Amino acid sequence: MAYPKDIIVEVIYTEEELKTFAKQLGEQNTKDYEGKYPTLVCTLKGAVPFFSELIKHVTCECEMEFIKASSYIGNTTTTIGNVTISAVLGFPIKDRDIIIVEDIVDTGLTCKELTKYFLNLGARSVEICTLLDKPARRTCSTFPKYIGAEIEDKFIIGFGLDYNEKYRNIPYVGVINPKYI
Ligand code: IMP
Ligand code: MG
Repeated sequence: MAYPKDIIVEVIYTEEELKTFAKQLGEQNTKDYEGKYPTLVCTLKGAVPFFSELIKHVTCECEMEFIKASSYIGNTTTTIGNVTISAVLGFPIKDRDIIIVEDIVDTGLTCKELTKYFLNLGARSVEICTLLDKPARRTCSTFPKYIGAEIEDKFIIGFGLDYNEKYRNIPYVGVINPKYI
């Protein structure tokens, strides 16, 4: 069954615009991390479309890893505060430069806990690279260094972002019709 035709009430960024953000951020990461052999860590599941665009433009030597961070308790390995973190596969963190790749930073708590997690495991540096940032909702002092675009405080879906696990496969980002919430 297809999604309702009126599921999106306002397109915030088109697929082309999102790809442009990913390209700009990838080029910036390349400049900043040349020679450092960074590890780009994709946060599952929302950041997958952004990550796959971003890495096309990170042309320095690097590694790619995946991690799941959820703000509820699940079947996982590490719980810090309200955020549960599970590495999909164990990967080297000690003395590595970590770039957390996020779909959206909202309250900032997920990135705050992920940053703490990597620093506790001995990372040399941790920075956040997010496609979208909602600074109006921040409840902590964690701010991403790399931001594709800032958005207003609206609940959006598409390009990896979900509502109840749906709509991640819409290729652009838009505001969800409140009648479906
Ligand atoms: P934070 O810990 O509050 O910063 O939450 C970040 C996570 O919340 C993101 O990785 C998303 O999974 C989710 N999130 C925040 N805002 C939105 C939104 O507008 N649409 C869909 N998911 C969102
Ligand atoms: Mg989510």
